[in-house]
Amino acid sequence: MNREKLIIFDTTLRDGEQSPGASMTRDEKVRIAKALEKMRVDVIEAGFPVASPGDFEAVKAVAETIKDSIVCALARAKDIDIDRAGEALKGANAARIHTFIATSPIHMKEKLRMEPDQVVEQAVRAVKRARQYTDNVEFSPEDAGRSDPDFLCRIIEAVIDAGAGTVNIPDTVGYNLPHQFGALVKQLIERVPNADQAVFSVHCHNDLGLAVANSLSAVLNGARQVECTINGLGERAGNASLEEIVMAVRTRQDLFPCDTTVDATQIVPTSRLVSGITGFAVQPNKAIVGANAFAHESGIHQDGVLKRRETYEIMRAEDVGWSANRMVLGKHSGRNAFRTRLKELGVEFASEADVNNAFARFKELADKKHEIFDDDLQALVTDANIDAENERLKLVALKASSETGERAEAKVTLRLDNEEFKANEKGAGPVDAVFKAIEKIIKSEAQLQLYSVNNITTGTDSQGEVTVRLMKGGMIVNGQGADTDIVIASAKAYINALNKIMMRTERAHPQV
Ligand code: KIV
Ligand code: ZN
Repeated sequence: MNREKLIIFDTTLRDGEQSPGASMTRDEKVRIAKALEKMRVDVIEAGFPVASPGDFEAVKAVAETIKDSIVCALARAKDIDIDRAGEALKGANAARIHTFIATSPIHMKEKLRMEPDQVVEQAVRAVKRARQYTDNVEFSPEDAGRSDPDFLCRIIEAVIDAGAGTVNIPDTVGYNLPHQFGALVKQLIERVPNADQAVFSVHCHNDLGLAVANSLSAVLNGARQVECTINGLGERAGNASLEEIVMAVRTRQDLFPCDTTVDATQIVPTSRLVSGITGFAVQPNKAIVGANAFAHESGIHQDGVLKRRETYEIMRAEDVGWSANRMVLGKHSGRNAFRTRLKELGVEFASEADVNNAFARFKELADKKHEIFDDDLQALVTDANIDAENERLKLVALKASSETGERAEAKVTLRLDNEEFKANEKGAGPVDAVFKAIEKIIKSEAQLQLYSVNNITTGTDSQGEVTVRLMKGGMIVNGQGADTDIVIASAKAYINALNKIMMRTERAHPQV
């Protein structure tokens, strides 16, 4: 059978970032965008440039970095949004503007306070304006899942005539059921007279846990682009998960007339990168990327798999990027071996100074931990330490002590810009004492929303990877730190979050 192409549109950096607490810095977005490009994702929605200067800069940086994927920017159907999106995408090799306006009765009446005729007029105007910046324009009737199909047919015909090459059907509130959503997409493709001049896309939210099922039903009914996110990140209950869409279509080629060109072996490394940066842990039983997704506990299953893998496995772990946690390097490994192994893991350094920096951290780690696994290496280079050179606040020294029956105590020395500050504090435990001492110096008054520690590998000499989520004045940031000493990892994570607070400005939400 002649396979059609299913376009994968990743919106981890835009809708994914709308998960409360999942905000990312410009550099983190660039890092994720590079991983998506390596995975051969077709379109990367990099952000919503009008939302804030930070969002604008992030889209611009992604547009200037990515060469193989199309870089897309979101814009409401407003001149100011479209102009900002066009501006941010100027440096892109291939750019798309994604403009949207709500079409459901409740959104038009209560949110937009507009008549349907005005909505059609504004959508057409937005598409025409976006076409002045790029030939590649996508239009979304927001809340299509609760819109009147007759009205959808009317607005879709008008935007295709105005120059939209992709028409995206969002189930914005995750309300639809699979058979119903598939039927809606089928009806639109059949009824819109110029439907053959556009690719139909879907964008499903997971409020009822149906985002992937709804997307797949739409694909079976003619959609040829799916919007999705790594680990299913996204507004509220999230979006359809990229890894589940890609693997469902690939595993069931007997049912789908199309396939993606995604390199699935990049799925697990990218999932880890996203969860490390956002601080959103992946549940162990999550399909494809959960720690247990390929683990067989029952003796009967283990026996079956040993006899023939296919008895209980429908996919191969290595095909989605699970590799054995191989021991690769140790204390005596040289710079070349270090760089070569990281290259094999897909990590490229921008400069010799970056290699030297990372190698110095590797030697430090190898002094404390004899066996360095791939996951340790990944943490070493995704660790927030990598950005440390550009951070205003740095950890200079830390001493923490705890004793049974006594309150823990911490002495901390920090450097803010070029000045050193010291503080001593007591706390419920060493981590509490360290955070209090840092707060005594910085006085950020940020609220701690999340503190989590994960071991990167097994064993008591494993590095602890700490995530700290801080909130200040409506702004939420995640900080990360890794070290074999979890108190030091905690201090690094807290300082990383404070650095982000110092860099950040407030941003707007696309759907408000
Ligand atoms: O969920 C939604 O409707 C969106 C649109 C902006 C496509 O995210
Ligand atoms: Zn959405």
